[in-house]
Amino acid sequence: MVCTIRDTISPMNLPAFFEEDLHLVDAALQRSMPAADAPPQSIHRAMRYSVFAGGKRIRPILCLETARIFAQDVGPALHPACAIEFIHTYSLIHDDLPALDNDDLRRGKPTCHKQFGEAIAILAGDALLTLAFETLGATPVNAELRVKMLTEIATSAGTMNGMVGGQVADLEAEGKTVGPETLEYIHRSKTAALIRASITAGAICARAPEEEIARLRQFGETIGWAFQVTDDILDVEESSAALGKTAGKDIAQQKATYPAVFGLERSHEIANELSSNAITDLASYGARAARLREIAEFLVHRRT
Ligand code: IPE
Ligand code: IPE
Ligand code: MG
Ligand code: MG
Ligand code: MG
Repeated sequence: MVCTIRDTISPMNLPAFFEEDLHLVDAALQRSMPAADAPPQSIHRAMRYSVFAGGKRIRPILCLETARIFAQDVGPALHPACAIEFIHTYSLIHDDLPALDNDDLRRGKPTCHKQFGEAIAILAGDALLTLAFETLGATPVNAELRVKMLTEIATSAGTMNGMVGGQVADLEAEGKTVGPETLEYIHRSKTAALIRASITAGAICARAPEEEIARLRQFGETIGWAFQVTDDILDVEESSAALGKTAGKDIAQQKATYPAVFGLERSHEIANELSSNAITDLASYGARAARLREIAEFLVHRRT
């Protein structure tokens, strides 16, 4: 079943191209994944359950739309786009485990461990991480570009200012009073790094020049940071039904969040300031970056 973005995102002004990109991405994810009836079926069913539960696909869409600035054919960029969505989905499966955030609801469905048990959920996360690199390795571009993308993506998901490092800091900050610097480290590492890699990998895949990759890296880092500030805000302001995940969890678990440290009003201002700064980094692209600008606006104005 291919879900539409409107199944998961409540009515809002979605950029028109989202729906088209979403279908491209979902079809590529389908092609890249083992069939549900391939043995061992238990893990393949669990992997497919979480990947096709209905995420927004923000990261693969950013990857494709960045590639589109530099290349007409964005087909090759579907490989890094899917690789990153696999890594992101693995991070969600593990984030929801009892040992981490202990969540029951994800993408509007029971979490992977609730549905399949903890052991299979852990292994489904491991398998998605591995599948990500298999998918990336098959990108139809030259080996030098493949290695560059691999380095960007692996670094963003790792422990040094990457997703796993940020998740560790997030867990270790629970129940503690943290300052703005720690909060910034957590958000830039656990979330912004992978969003940044979605953008830089799209640019690398489409053979963007080095200086363009550096500029887009800056854009990706800032918009990724704004994305997690907005995630924190939505956890306070929205319902579980709207989010497809348990609302109000951050306060209950005494998480280090922007609303906890700065209050809601200032958090909104910070998200908007970060988004405007990110959009400034795109100035030199003019109309070519119109879609990236629309996505940057959407990321801070979304309600899910
Ligand atoms: C949720 O990410 C986890 C964070 C890093 C904030 P998304 O909001 O992109 O989740 P899906 O993919 O739409 O489910
Ligand atoms: C998780 O942040 C970021 C990841 C790397 C998965 P959160 O714990 O705030 O994400 P949600 O709110 O559960 O989606
Ligand atoms: Mg978490
Ligand atoms: Mg969580
Ligand atoms: Mg959250």
